Amino acid sequence: MISIDDMKRRHQFRFMTDKVPDKKIIDKIIKDALKLTPIKNNTWYFYIDIYGPEYAEEKKKFCLQTACHIPEKNYDYIYYQYSQGMPREKHIQEDLLPILDEYYKTAERSPGLPAFNTQVLAPYLIAFKIKKSHYEYHSTMVNMIAAGKGEVFAEDEDIKSMNAVWPGASMFAYVMSVLANKEGLDASFCQCFWRSNYNYNSIYNNETDEVLFFLSIGYGDKEKSEKHISPKDRANNIVNMEDVIKWM
Ligand SMILES: Cc1cc2nc3c(=O)[nH]c(=O)nc-3n(C[C@H](O)[C@H](O)[C@H](O)COP(=O)(O)O)c2cc1C
Repeated sequence: MISIDDMKRRHQFRFMTDKVPDKKIIDKIIKDALKLTPIKNNTWYFYIDIYGPEYAEEKKKFCLQTACHIPEKNYDYIYYQYSQGMPREKHIQEDLLPILDEYYKTAERSPGLPAFNTQVLAPYLIAFKIKKSHYEYHSTMVNMIAAGKGEVFAEDEDIKSMNAVWPGASMFAYVMSVLANKEGLDASFCQCFWRSNYNYNSIYNNETDEVLFFLSIGYGDKEKSEKHISPKDRANNIVNMEDVIKWM
């Protein structure tokens, strides 16, 4: 039985320890989540790819593309230099790897340097991806808009199906996270990542841009993660109910 206390146990961990969970438990969590998650029309508009501990090196490369908390709002440093084809982009590994190593070791950002979403280094990293075959029309539309070809109208049905991707994937991920907790594991999300043409890795790159978000499973490193966000900061982050809940 999953109780409210199990749900309270769930937290976002920025850091996981090196301890590797049993693959059989991960498999069980996924199979149980399949049975427990409501999915519109029982149609899977998304799929998941699971990267186990053997992908440690690839995860580290991908982690460079999760650089965040850029000091003094100097977004050019990351988002332009490393993701938009500027001259430094081809040096992404040379520039960012030492910064990532230091951040991972200390769990603290050095002055003037970014942090990283190091939860993606967890022993099990699960990519939630859109099934593009369902959405040829939609992806054409998105590409046209991105190419500045003006407003494009989608059929209602396309939009409705497209809207089913997120609830399904999110519910599945949430159910997985609570089941992971029930097994004594921790689960963290990541949707902060950006593209790079010069950081090829088998987890995220330009050619297979189908990733919605990631779910990491492992054993949370509480001490290191609390350097990123303290329990006090977490408590202050609770949303104001009146801003988001309206009784009609
Ligand atoms: C879809 C999704 C994506 C998220 N992406 C990130 C992320 O990229 N980086 C991060 O630090 N937290 C991420 N989070 C975690 C939320 O910020 C976190 O759940 C929230 O701050 C509440 O903290 P708690 O989960 O510990 O209660 C994500 C959560 C969800 C549901």
